[in-house]
Amino acid sequence: MTSTTRTKRLTRRRDRGEHCESDGGRRNRKGAPRLLQGDCVEVLKELEPMSVGAVVCDPPYAIGWQGERWDSGAIREAAARHGHGRLSKPEAFEAWCGIWGSEALRVMKPGAFLLAFGSPRTHHRLAAGLEDAGLEIRDTVIWLHSRGISKSRHYAGGRATTLKPAIEPIVVARRPNEGTTEETIGRHGTGALNVEDCRVEGRHPANAVVTHDEGCTAEACAPSCAAALLDAAAEGGEGGVGTQLRPTRFLYCPKPTRTERDAGCEEFPEQAFNLLPSTGKSRPTRNPHPTLKPIELMRWLVRLACPAGDLVLDPFMGSGTTGVAAALERRRFCGIEKEEGFVEIARARIDHWASGAGRRAGDDAVGSPAHRPLGSRRRR
Ligand SMILES: C[S@@+](CC[C@H](N)C(=O)[O-])C[C@H]1O[C@@H](n2cnc3c(N)ncnc32)[C@H](O)[C@@H]1O
Repeated sequence: MTSTTRTKRLTRRRDRGEHCESDGGRRNRKGAPRLLQGDCVEVLKELEPMSVGAVVCDPPYAIGWQGERWDSGAIREAAARHGHGRLSKPEAFEAWCGIWGSEALRVMKPGAFLLAFGSPRTHHRLAAGLEDAGLEIRDTVIWLHSRGISKSRHYAGGRATTLKPAIEPIVVARRPNEGTTEETIGRHGTGALNVEDCRVEGRHPANAVVTHDEGCTAEACAPSCAAALLDAAAEGGEGGVGTQLRPTRFLYCPKPTRTERDAGCEEFPEQAFNLLPSTGKSRPTRNPHPTLKPIELMRWLVRLACPAGDLVLDPFMGSGTTGVAAALERRRFCGIEKEEGFVEIARARIDHWASGAGRRAGDDAVGSPAHRPLGSRRRR
């Protein structure tokens, strides 16, 4: 079935008010990813209770990212539709997180983990909403990167209203166990994180993930590189320029490259993509999703949270990075996305990375200098 035929079919079903299943013609293939188009609060009601091994997702942050409606007005409207009118923006976001969180909780197995990205400005509301829904907050992973660009206006006297963004928090929550953790593991395979499969240079994984500075090369870290400085500080030394670093104790994960963004999207037209409209710079891409996450990071999270072979759910699938990660980590996948265009892109990306050629390309990309763990780098 061509992409156009699939899109027409999705549109007809949406017009009839149904949520749509985009199966790319593979409905009968065992273990094929299940991609559903619609509002996750409604679609989740139709999924089987206690069927999900982990939820790994990147929901809207409610910060009005690039003027996207799904990241602002739509959240308040959804909260109002569910009886939470007259709330401030932050309160409505918290209420809405509670609404989708309750639906997610219902389909999760006891002891299953839910990992959700948030914004430094709003993740406290995300965590509170999930807690109100009945999930336990277990931890917060910090993804520390050095690629953020300050969006603050500047004022007289060298003043600004925000700092340069350098972290993204990931809330780690769990559906309460059924009995003890041991009993939950025995009954459902859930209840604990797969730390053994996620060790970093042999160490118990930390709740911090870092990226390198833009000035780092395959040979050496830039003097201000966060990964290098953290490692040096953890060793108790100064880690001066020119010293050889020991292998990092933090997972290293770069932001996605353009090649990673577009892989599998060859059937879609190229369009100008402007990640930061304030800079006025745009470049062509076939996957214009504004908030794409890196595959390597999503693979680590999927591996950490979801028991081997179990089902990963992403209720805010976007262009499907969690689905790509699930395919590469050999977990089953169910994704929900409101926008049909993104469902199509997600389908194409997951197919690409799940195929033999995509897997090989993924291995090559992961082995490239930009992806090599810090252990192989030296300071200059
Ligand atoms: C932050 S993006 C996820 C990006 C994804 N991690 C990726 O790498 O492509 C959030 C996505 O959730 C979708 N979305 C927002 N509200 C939704 C809802 N109520 N139900 C389903 N999808 C929704 C948006 O259209 C958007 O694509």
